[in-house]
Amino acid sequence: MTTVDTPDTTGLGEIARGAARVSVDDKAMLGARADVNQLLPLKYGWAWDKYLAGCDNHWMPTEVAMQADIALWKSEDGLTADERRMLKRNLGFFATAESLVANNVVLAVYRHITNPECRQYLLRQAFEEAVHTHTFQYICESLGLDEGELFNAYREVPSIADKDAWALRYTRNLEDPDFATGTPEADQAFLRDLVAFYVVFEGMWFYTGFAQVLSLGRRNKMVGIAEQYQYILRDESIHLNFGIDCVNQIKLENPHLWTPEFQREVRNMLAEACELEVAYARDTMPRGMLGLSAELCEQYMHFITDRRAGQLGLEPIFGQRENPFPWMSEAMDLKKEKNFFETRVIEYRSGAALDWD
Ligand SMILES: [Fe+2]
Ligand SMILES: [Fe+2]
Repeated sequence: MTTVDTPDTTGLGEIARGAARVSVDDKAMLGARADVNQLLPLKYGWAWDKYLAGCDNHWMPTEVAMQADIALWKSEDGLTADERRMLKRNLGFFATAESLVANNVVLAVYRHITNPECRQYLLRQAFEEAVHTHTFQYICESLGLDEGELFNAYREVPSIADKDAWALRYTRNLEDPDFATGTPEADQAFLRDLVAFYVVFEGMWFYTGFAQVLSLGRRNKMVGIAEQYQYILRDESIHLNFGIDCVNQIKLENPHLWTPEFQREVRNMLAEACELEVAYARDTMPRGMLGLSAELCEQYMHFITDRRAGQLGLEPIFGQRENPFPWMSEAMDLKKEKNFFETRVIEYRSGAALDWD
């Protein structure tokens, strides 16, 4: 009988002929000895459920009509100068953010998660990030935007570059070919990456942008883009919750990693990320518009940050209990919003009720 001495985390090693069959107890989030090519027996139902919910929410950006957006964008008095600036920076952030997240999923997270049902979800997520990047290509083409300006915003607009540079710090050592989980230091580095990308990037930094574009849509402006953002928001809520479940499962299996010092560090990460997002809100909205202002966005971000801390089992950071944008919770329910936007809404099967905000 062949035995495997070191876990084969790629699933591409030599076939372990005659090895003992996988038992569900052999499966683990990190450093599992179970064969990563065997989806069944399933251990983490939460990961499989998110894979199914993602498939139920399938959409493509090209299914959304853009005529109304094109007419409004091209008309001289269609949008105010402030609304144009906000929208360009908003699109500029997302255009490359989707690729940064996708690259982290494929090149960093996937390599180190040794559980097949989580990898199944990561493959679905990677495809969804491609659909999101496609959305920004489609918007750029439809509106005739300057592609160089849009796709270089993350290098040229300081409030965007500051956010992306902060997150990239946390994925850099995971991309090192010699990096491997298995020591407390390495496992904590992996948890930091999950917090930076899933909780902060997808769970905090997308939300000012969603609120801005959905506010345009609520006023019947840029309704096609607003509809696409609703679909992205629904996808991202699942990405965020998958990340939270991963962190909490790793904590459960490795309680020694979740030390008081490490918890303090994670709370500091959330507080720093919140500050960067507030700076981005001020930069994109120097004056109030569309019922939004940088101050309200700051309160909203405090609310979201406290909620993320709670989801990770941490104490709130700001004590902001009230959500200043309660209408954001309704944006998830596309059926309810069906008559809200004038563009055509394709009925997709809706995923299970999502804890989205
Ligand atoms: Fe995305
Ligand atoms: Fe995402």
